[in-house]
Amino acid sequence: MNAPIPADAGPDGDSALRLAAPYDPDSLDDLLERFGSPLLVIDCDVIRRQYAALAAALPGVDLHYALKPLPDIDVVRTLAALGSGFDLATSGEVELVRRAGVDPGRCIHTHPIKREGDIRDALEFGVRTFVADNPDELRKFRGCADRVELLIRVSFRSPAAVVDLSRKFGCDPEAAPGLIGQAREAGIRVAGLSFHVGSQSRTPDTKVRAIEVCTGILRRAASSLSAPPVLDIGGGFPIDYLEPASPIDAFCEPIRTALRGLPEGTRILAEPGRFICGPAGTILTTVMGRAWRDGRWWYYLDDGLYGSFSGQLYDHARYPVAPLRDKPGPRFHSVLAGPTCDSIDVVREDIELPELEAGDVIVGRQMGAYTVASATDFNFFPRARTVVVNR
Ligand SMILES: Cc1ncc(COP(=O)(O)O)c(C=O)c1O
Repeated sequence: MNAPIPADAGPDGDSALRLAAPYDPDSLDDLLERFGSPLLVIDCDVIRRQYAALAAALPGVDLHYALKPLPDIDVVRTLAALGSGFDLATSGEVELVRRAGVDPGRCIHTHPIKREGDIRDALEFGVRTFVADNPDELRKFRGCADRVELLIRVSFRSPAAVVDLSRKFGCDPEAAPGLIGQAREAGIRVAGLSFHVGSQSRTPDTKVRAIEVCTGILRRAASSLSAPPVLDIGGGFPIDYLEPASPIDAFCEPIRTALRGLPEGTRILAEPGRFICGPAGTILTTVMGRAWRDGRWWYYLDDGLYGSFSGQLYDHARYPVAPLRDKPGPRFHSVLAGPTCDSIDVVREDIELPELEAGDVIVGRQMGAYTVASATDFNFFPRARTVVVNR
């Protein structure tokens, strides 16, 4: 995996950059002129809108933005100003929130399998809440038991999620009480439980079942846990891609109902990533050249699967893409290909487009999450630069 996006990527200090969505083509052209192509435009107004929508759909839940889909310092600062907490997984993410001036008391560290250095750096910053899911991981906290409290991560497989995160992390629900007991014997406080049923969940069903099972565990283990206990319901809140997702209030309705069954006073956390930053990112990429092959126009873009569209591979996302400026005239079966010399580097095979030429711009929407964060510079095609608007 690459280093985090540099915190000052983009024209830091240019706080005057204002852009009202839906963006008009002239303003986007203007950004390309100033900052070059490919370009990721991050809109802080959309970050604010998404945070407010999720906070309204989950009243009483402390939202902790998960940095991994878009580790950008302006996004962190924007969310910190709204009162958000932060979900960190590595020392790089700790460093980013430190530079953004975030209060460590508002941060949790949720990687279930950590390097000693990750624990050391997070502790040194002031993080006190960590996640563990097995006895080996518990042992890593023996030397700092007086300074930490743990959440035990529980696994709930989720066939309905596009990315099933419980395959890789979390203990079986039946194993959680035993781990809570082992932690206590080692003198480590356990605050409660966490889970992440998967990213881009199509339905809330697995989350609801996970809340119900965790409610039972929290009740049975009450005497071994901090009072009040903590339940962290993870991320996974879905957004529209080529396929629309449920509106967030409807998605959260059964979750709200399930949360009402938790023991009185339970502190509830969530770790949304994609929902907060996905809709805030727009990719602008330019046609480098074209060829007519096998009855279709092939357009070669300056961004592709090794760049911002890496989420099509890693995250299984299908982004809405369209020309920046529509053109009159016939439509052609077209292919949008990435710039590298690798034949896998094709963004879309099945798209009807007007005839484009070198210099035309393609816009990718809903591209803030798991895009530039997982991009490479393969073949020396530089990943998209980031420009932040509406800071
Ligand atoms: C521990 C943890 N929390 C939160 C997230 C963010 O999930 P999402 O972007 O689906 O909201 C992830 C994503 O991988 C994760 O691993």
